[in-house]
Amino acid sequence: MAETVLTNKRRIELLEMRGIVKRFPGVLACDQIDFTVKSGEVHTLLGENGAGKSTLMKMLYGLYQPDEGEIRINGKVASIRSPQEAIQSGIGMIHQHFMFVPSLTVAENVALGLKTSFGSMLDLKEISKGLSALSDRYNLKIDPDIPIWQLAVGEQQRVEILRAIYKGADLLILDEPTAVLTPQEVDDLFRILNQMRQDGHALIFISHKLHEVLAISNRITVLRDGAQVGMIDVEEATKQNLAEMMVGRPVVLQYDIPPLERGSVRLELNQVSARSNRGNLGLNDVSLSVYGGEIVGVAGVSGNGQQELAQVIAGLRPIEAGTITVNGQNISGKSPEKMNSLGVSYIPEERMVDGVIKEFTVAENLILQDHWREPFANNGLMLNFNVIQDACRQAIKDYEIKTPSTETPIKSLSGGNIQKLVLARELARNPQVLIAAQPTRGVDIGASEYIHQRILAERETGTAILLISEDLDEIRALSDRIIVMFEGRIVGIVERKDVNIQALGAMMAGVH
Ligand SMILES: Nc1ncnc2c1ncn2[C@@H]1O[C@H](COP(=O)(O)OP(=O)(O)O)[C@@H](O)[C@H]1O
Ligand SMILES: [Mg+2]
Repeated sequence: MAETVLTNKRRIELLEMRGIVKRFPGVLACDQIDFTVKSGEVHTLLGENGAGKSTLMKMLYGLYQPDEGEIRINGKVASIRSPQEAIQSGIGMIHQHFMFVPSLTVAENVALGLKTSFGSMLDLKEISKGLSALSDRYNLKIDPDIPIWQLAVGEQQRVEILRAIYKGADLLILDEPTAVLTPQEVDDLFRILNQMRQDGHALIFISHKLHEVLAISNRITVLRDGAQVGMIDVEEATKQNLAEMMVGRPVVLQYDIPPLERGSVRLELNQVSARSNRGNLGLNDVSLSVYGGEIVGVAGVSGNGQQELAQVIAGLRPIEAGTITVNGQNISGKSPEKMNSLGVSYIPEERMVDGVIKEFTVAENLILQDHWREPFANNGLMLNFNVIQDACRQAIKDYEIKTPSTETPIKSLSGGNIQKLVLARELARNPQVLIAAQPTRGVDIGASEYIHQRILAERETGTAILLISEDLDEIRALSDRIIVMFEGRIVGIVERKDVNIQALGAMMAGVH
């Protein structure tokens, strides 16, 4: 093939989507979206949850039909009525949930998908050989003859990529591929995508993680609430302007924190030990004081005692030894209700399990544990419906909780909105002590910033705050002091001004 043809090909858009509209009952999921991709580039779709990214891609992959608009491939109008037709047009899609028969090998799984189009004339050895060659070419490190069940999640994803390339995908859609990967696996994936880009594949990458988007994209299109906010080249993109486009207002990525005004000791743990669910000492001889007006961050790799720490303070896990005091009062072994009435609020890590009752409405969840108290009830019996409704409407407004009504079942809200609801309820009690465990995990940037501002405001009112997070950026942004946990023990305490990221990382890994 002549070189000129190739360079020419690189210049035109392989894919053009013009004026794409998709409506669902009550939702305009995509509103006049234009989106184009060239061969040899990564064009990222960036947007918060519900922005319309997956819907747009499902139309390209033939899973949905657009209500309006046109799709062109290599300049020709394409009507893509099914994934089979998408594949015939050279489009592949990597979903978050992989579709394999686990007991079959990689090659057999690929063969399965081919059967429908090529009949039964399949030579498994041929396929295996072809897959091997592609695996080497893209450094996928996949053995085609290994059964799927033996592969880790990251490897299964690479099999999906391999399968798509094998079926001839020139254009590959990756819908939030990094959500299921470890940081190491993300690096591997990006190396593969780079190789594919160099080979002239067109790639559509979907994410809402800004550092990833900046690392892999050529162009970035931002969607918000179904509308196209803009498109920029990666050279013009910064975390700040991308966040602002995504959220629709300036977003603070670094906070201005007023100087610490330490009050008295609010929370004290003295040589506390507790068993984990596995029966070993998940919390081992931990001593710690948290003062009013202070945020103490707890850093550590997940599973090193952080969850046990939060749970013993919240009264959800018995302790084996030691004492816990709140405002000087010994509270060891008290129930969650008692802890609550002593002024301990808890934002749990597992919010769908410990934070809300799934079957209940927004309103019911907002007054959980307080429903028997004034002003929501008289004499612990009669519920004041109007008072409850007013309080709920106020919380929804104050915390910008997106819900159709106060009577909506909580389970139909997005993760970020559920988290804001839990925060609203826990802070409404004017806590003396706040335990916030992974408060922004799985939460959009806009909602994260909001939650951070609320936690900082709580610090200003003199609450003692324990912030447990696996996100080191979050810990560093908010904490006055950082403690590091490893294997159930506190292995380091660092003041805000002395934070050194390498040293923190080493402590987290158990290196002293
Ligand atoms: N099959 C569907 N039926 C009804 N509404 C849907 C459907 N799929 C998506 N939506 C709605 O369309 C909007 C965009 O969703 P989606 O494309 O999944 O967003 P994203 O992938 O950016 O998180 C959301 O409001 C979502 O609730
Ligand atoms: Mg999506």
